[in-house]
Amino acid sequence: MLVAPSLLAADFGNLERELRWFNESGADMLHLDVMDGVFVPNISFGFPVLKHVARLCKKPLDVHLMIVEPQKFIREVAELGARYMNIHYEAVTHHHRVLQQIREAGMKPAVTLCPSTPVDVLRDIICDVDMVLLMSVNPGFGGQKFIPQTLRKVERLRRLISEANSQALIEIDGGVNMETGRQLAEVGADVLVAGSYVFGAEDPAGRIEALKALS
Ligand code: DX5
Ligand code: ZN
Repeated sequence: MLVAPSLLAADFGNLERELRWFNESGADMLHLDVMDGVFVPNISFGFPVLKHVARLCKKPLDVHLMIVEPQKFIREVAELGARYMNIHYEAVTHHHRVLQQIREAGMKPAVTLCPSTPVDVLRDIICDVDMVLLMSVNPGFGGQKFIPQTLRKVERLRRLISEANSQALIEIDGGVNMETGRQLAEVGADVLVAGSYVFGAEDPAGRIEALKALS
């Protein structure tokens, strides 16, 4: 299992210290949640902060944009050196164009679905994305409870991916812990995002290892 801890649950007063242990951990990437107070009812951090995070982080960045019109910020995200640029399906009209622009900017395009958006909308773009992020909580806040219907959704997405012969990874975000992580591994998730379960722990690196061991 690949694991992408979410910085949203980190101690923002000590980001340098947090990233020091993070760089030494077994985490596969760092998940960064950008919120604009419009697409979601919360505001997190923006590019002035992310520039410093990108400088301090030695692992690949997975940038999850919970913002309207994410296509306006392709250059800024590319300049961070991000590996994945994750845009919400619900925030974009011309998905195909935006996904191509993300790839042209040197990043891997990824598309995110809110809990109420069915996976079928991805049928005609599934070969244009390197990853699909299924939200297993309503986006905007860390520390929420996992929505169990996500498990069936992962199964449907797994089918859609294999029917289309797509290489897209399945990433899950929200309410991930050891119990939900085990269930997600069983239905075929590839990447687990975990905020409070990792950063809130006494031994965060140990929790990352435990999640990574799921298969
Ligand atoms: C929520 C964010 C998540 C959040 C997950 O909108 O997209 O990445 O950090 O937090 P936990 O793991 O605490 O549910
Ligand atoms: Zn996220």
